[in-house]
Amino acid sequence: MKQLHIVGAGGFGRECHAWASQHPDCGKAWVLAGFLDDNPEALRPFGDFAPVRPLAGHRPKADDLYLCGLGMPALKEKLIAPLVAAGARFLTFVHPRAHLGARVTIGRGSVVCPGAVLSADITLGEFVLVNLNSTIGHDATLGDWTSLSAQCDVTGHVRIADRVFLGSRATIIPEKTVGSRSIVGAGAVVVTHVPAGVTVVGIPARVL
Ligand SMILES: CC(C)(COP(=O)(O)OP(=O)(O)OC[C@H]1O[C@@H](n2cnc3c(N)ncnc32)[C@H](O)[C@@H]1OP(=O)(O)O)[C@@H](O)C(=O)NCCC(=O)NCCS
Repeated sequence: MKQLHIVGAGGFGRECHAWASQHPDCGKAWVLAGFLDDNPEALRPFGDFAPVRPLAGHRPKADDLYLCGLGMPALKEKLIAPLVAAGARFLTFVHPRAHLGARVTIGRGSVVCPGAVLSADITLGEFVLVNLNSTIGHDATLGDWTSLSAQCDVTGHVRIADRVFLGSRATIIPEKTVGSRSIVGAGAVVVTHVPAGVTVVGIPARVL
């Protein structure tokens, strides 16, 4: 049986452990092996409910599978890219209570959480996160390492580049673009194109 390791034993990693335990493949295609995290105490306040093994020096084996339990784009890339280079095989994880429409392409290592809705003709890159109850409309694209927090509203024809972070309840109106490595604050409503490398907040969203 394949052993599924969750990378990151923080808050989102613990959520991923719960979501993975609810997946129909759990106990059939793979079993939950625990977490990879360099803080051995990470689960102490939570009753040490699963093993925490060090990430530093970890070497993937043939029976190992991995799930990205990290939310922030820069941290994801920093910790996950070396594992991928070492041969780690990452699950592309779609929770059974997420809803996928038609012609939705989801890149390797991406995580789609409960309640997320991805309608039609959508492309997600690699290691993208779509958190709880976020919706993605037709013809939208999201680049590698990008993360949507809970309840985001990405509407039709929106193009979000790589390594972008959307805070909770961020909204992007149709056909707008968000540039590489930008951050959209919680609750922001994006009504104009967002350049690369900026933080925008508010309604309408303005560069901070
Ligand atoms: C946008 C964000 C990244 C900015 O963080 P920051 O750079 O540390 O900014 P600060 O907290 O120093 O705030 C700077 C200013 O922006 C304002 N601001 C910050 N976030 C804002 C938001 N989401 N909407 C409106 N204004 C915001 C602050 O009030 C402050 O205003 P001031 O200068 O007039 O006092 C952050 O506030 C945010 O919204 N993060 C998203 C968090 C989230 O949703 N996480 C998901 C769950 S894990």
